Amino acid sequence: MKILVLGGAGYIGSHTVYELTDAGEDVVIIDNLETGYKEAVHPKAKFYQGDLRDRAFVDSVLDQETGIDAVIHFAANSLVGESMTNPLKYYDNNLCGTKTMLESMVAHGIDKIVFSSTAATYGEPEKTPILETDRTEPTNTYGETKLSMEKMFKWVGKAHGLRFVSLRYFNACGAHKSGEIGEAHNPETHLIPLILQVPNGKREAISIFGTDYPTKDGTCVRDYIHVTDLAQAHILAVKYLMEGNESDIFNLGNGIGFTVKEVIETAKEVTQKPIKAVEEGRRAGDPAVLIASSEKAKKVLGWKPEHADLHEIIESAWKWHSTHPEGYQSK
Ligand code: UFG
Repeated sequence: MKILVLGGAGYIGSHTVYELTDAGEDVVIIDNLETGYKEAVHPKAKFYQGDLRDRAFVDSVLDQETGIDAVIHFAANSLVGESMTNPLKYYDNNLCGTKTMLESMVAHGIDKIVFSSTAATYGEPEKTPILETDRTEPTNTYGETKLSMEKMFKWVGKAHGLRFVSLRYFNACGAHKSGEIGEAHNPETHLIPLILQVPNGKREAISIFGTDYPTKDGTCVRDYIHVTDLAQAHILAVKYLMEGNESDIFNLGNGIGFTVKEVIETAKEVTQKPIKAVEEGRRAGDPAVLIASSEKAKKVLGWKPEHADLHEIIESAWKWHSTHPEGYQSK
């Protein structure tokens, strides 16, 4: 297969490109390197640097790269906090970029897209575990733009015969088994990389945001899912569309929740180092518990997470962070 990966130099995109090239697929990447890194681009992938909002650029890539079977779309801004202080940046990049990309896909007769969506489309959950049929009421602009992107695929699909799979991930984490690529956000806001900055000597302590939630130890519960398991789900979703199946939406998580304190304890075991934690107030907008039901992805796509053990997830993250304390070097 020939697959175009949008945002293939970012965290989840780069891991998906590694799995695709390992499986012998032909990969073309578009990334503007605003948040992605050149070093994360797999050497076997063909790389085009440019922005999805630039129609002439996107057209030129699709003119050159004939025979694309499907697109996998990771290219978006994804910081919840930033999306609240600068919502128009999210509307512009996430929605306008997708609109231009879809125009070019329709013009070039490319009719399959797998989309990187998020648990943030649900907002405050109605119940646990969360099903794909549950209410979607995002509590931040990031989630709202991802939900709007899903809807854009639906309506464009009805008009132009495009089919899509939207994958709503819960808490992506971990790193590639080689230790060559991993998580690198700037600024970093995610729990596991921030915890690992402590044993790495980059941070004195990890802040625990809220200890009065209605959970077993008072800290928030999240469903942590290994990035390689997410990558595999994208490949299965492409196959699902290639087989002629209908557009659909799937949650991706392990279905098991861990508290912030449990994650810190596991990181201590993995790194064999003390990790100082400081209890602080709640972070605005954090739901107490977010756990996925991924039964649908398992049943329909045949997906099976292979790295569900939290210890193994953090071990893979530590392999990356301990050898790349500054992340990638290009910025
Ligand atoms: N947390 C801390 N201290 C920190 C950082 C995080 O205690 O320094 C806590 C948070 O309060 C939260 C948990 O750790 O309870 C996980 O936080 P992350 O920021 O790692 O992840 P979120 O659950 O907030 O965000 C994830 C995805 C987003 C997505 C969101 C959906 O990373 O992309 O779920 O709600 F939008």
